Amino acid sequence: MNKAKHIAIIMDGNGRWAKQRGKKRVRGHEVGVKVAKEVVTYCANNENVERLTLYAFSTENWKRPRLEVDFLMKLLEKYLKEELQVCLENNVKFEAIGDISIFSKSLQEAILRVEEETAKCDGLVQSLALNYGAQDEILRAVNSLKKDAGNITFEMLNNALDSKQNVDLLIRTGGDKRLSNFLLWQSAYAELFFTDTLWPDFTCKELEKIIQKFKKVERRFGGLK
Ligand code: FPP
Repeated sequence: MNKAKHIAIIMDGNGRWAKQRGKKRVRGHEVGVKVAKEVVTYCANNENVERLTLYAFSTENWKRPRLEVDFLMKLLEKYLKEELQVCLENNVKFEAIGDISIFSKSLQEAILRVEEETAKCDGLVQSLALNYGAQDEILRAVNSLKKDAGNITFEMLNNALDSKQNVDLLIRTGGDKRLSNFLLWQSAYAELFFTDTLWPDFTCKELEKIIQKFKKVERRFGGLK
């Protein structure tokens, strides 16, 4: 049976969820944060899951209206403050992936604070993708290796990436079937699960069902069984 050691989630559908209810898009993001917290706690208490990577803000999300971006930044800061306690209670180590240098000083400090204060936790790693794009991640890694003479090996490039662990199970909510620049290198042999459920309606019960299906998939990694 497969173990979903690294689960990655594209949490899509917040805006549509809100629109369907006659609310502003940002209300969907607020509910989306609640769902993310539930999923983190669920994974922290599932002994097979070692790492959960959530796609919170992409390198392309800056194209959204200024008001929505500003709202997301504030929501993120609030989330980080609240999440620290949740991480400590559940032995979760927090880690940001992506280029966070673009964020405000206070947001960067909030990120570093949760990373530092949870550094000794040795349960689940909650990896939050912030100003993350897989193409940008690969470019930054290659540029950081440029100074090394000789050929770049698989290990060298892998270790220079923000996220170094292969994804086992990648889930996208919201009905679209695309990767949207998320963990392209790490998902080389990930099992992909797409659900029409909009992220604010996603539940740990649905996650559990997906994990059960994933467990039974025959994974061959390009070889034969
Ligand atoms: C996708 O919905 C969501 C985002 C682009 C980012 C924000 C994600 C959250 C607020 C959830 C959890 C956040 C944290 C910090 C853990 P969308 O706006 O693309 O929805 P749409 O496809 O319906 O427009």
